[in-house]
Amino acid sequence: MAPRIDIINGPNLNLLGEREPEIYGRETLGDIEKACTALATRLGLGLHFFQSNHEGALVDAIQAARGQAAGIVINPAAYTHSSVAIPDALAAFEGPVIELHLSNVHRREAFRHHSHVSARADAVIMGCGAQGYELALMRMARLLGRG
Ligand code: DQA
Repeated sequence: MAPRIDIINGPNLNLLGEREPEIYGRETLGDIEKACTALATRLGLGLHFFQSNHEGALVDAIQAARGQAAGIVINPAAYTHSSVAIPDALAAFEGPVIELHLSNVHRREAFRHHSHVSARADAVIMGCGAQGYELALMRMARLLGRG
């Protein structure tokens, strides 16, 4: 069976395309999911795509990936900079983790410069806009010996 990759998206990413498009681009989360689904098929990967505005729901999604998903790609959005529960949940996940941001957070406000998630991440992709999701999937395929 194709190894499953879970792509987990945090708060306000449901508004992509409308929300600060000069920073986050014009693609919607639906557009990103569609592109990722097509790429995952080409790479021989299964895909679960999830978004929530709630920290606990993101923790639940990470816990649900244990034993089911081969890898996690996560854009924790604002929780990157504030959550301890999300990196704790990721620490209990056995596979590779890729942290992803559409924007280059280091070019932005100082409060965005620290990530609680990066210490658990096998890779961090930022500043590539929506394409970052496809780059993350390609990297994940390589990490799983499929790329
Ligand atoms: C973000 C960057 C975060 O600082 C911000 O809170 C987001 C999106 C990004 O994808 O660039 O909501 O994770």
